[in-house]
Amino acid sequence: MTSLRHFLDLSDFSAEDLQLMLDTAHALKSQRRAARRNGGEDSPLGLPLAGKKIAMVFEQPSLRTRMSFDVGIRELGGQSLMVSGSEIELGERESIADTARVMSRYVDAIMIRMLDHDQLVELAANATVPVINGLTKRSHPCQVMADIMTFEEKKGPIAGRTIAWTGDANNVLASWTHAAARFPFTFKIATPPELAPRPELIAWAKSQGADIRLTADPYEAAEGADCVITDCWVSMGDKDEGRRHNLLKPYQVNEKLLREAQSDAIVMHCLPATRGEEVTDAVMDGLQSVVFDEAENRLHAQKGILAWCFGAVA
Ligand code: CP
Ligand code: NVA
Repeated sequence: MTSLRHFLDLSDFSAEDLQLMLDTAHALKSQRRAARRNGGEDSPLGLPLAGKKIAMVFEQPSLRTRMSFDVGIRELGGQSLMVSGSEIELGERESIADTARVMSRYVDAIMIRMLDHDQLVELAANATVPVINGLTKRSHPCQVMADIMTFEEKKGPIAGRTIAWTGDANNVLASWTHAAARFPFTFKIATPPELAPRPELIAWAKSQGADIRLTADPYEAAEGADCVITDCWVSMGDKDEGRRHNLLKPYQVNEKLLREAQSDAIVMHCLPATRGEEVTDAVMDGLQSVVFDEAENRLHAQKGILAWCFGAVA
């Protein structure tokens, strides 16, 4: 076990460490807002990434992850450099392990988006600098840190609340399941049986004490929820688009479904959204939608994660 502070999955952390990163994110967001109002520059952490260079590697497209990491790194005093997976022929031109060894000689951390989660683990195992998961086919932990931050901001502590997921059991759902094993909230998941979460994932979360309820009925999941979440029907790397559309149609977040939730429930979506498919315009643009705050919070949450990776917070 290395002492390097990788950020690969929420399941790797204690609730205390995750809360520390979230509290740091909230503090950095408040400071940034105050600085913008008053023209001040002082960060509560100073510039923990001063002199540090962080590589960002993208095997797949990205708007939020790419821009929010880039801005966050700069705001913490560091410098970023970007390469696409195709430029370096990631996993093809040389082994993932050798790629990790070489990159570690140049940069102080690696943030990477790649579909193959096992390759991410291999990269981290061979890197001598922190590695951050910017999305794999299996999980999207940075997104869920921003989601929890958004929940806390809008509704207070997540403990004791009810979160509903309706749609595909994808990478974002997996990271939410990891979160449910660390924070005491009820997590109700509605998916078509054919696209249900991996049984090992649910069994693991339950063994950790998570209160997870699976159903095929989106109305049952949404009933009484404080937050309703969905995501696209076809994730990066999915090939069975037609089948997914047919199976997932009943799981759309629309006004009728939302009426099952608490009247002050919030709606989240990691974006990009396919309006008219998994979520309607009326919900996306409605008063209960917090999707753009969620997108903004990627920036703040990742600054909290970066501060932790670089040891700027205990
Ligand atoms: N939510 C999210 O990760 O967006 P991008 O794919 O644009 O980075
Ligand atoms: N589940 C989506 C998330 C995109 C940010 C995907 O993997 O494509």
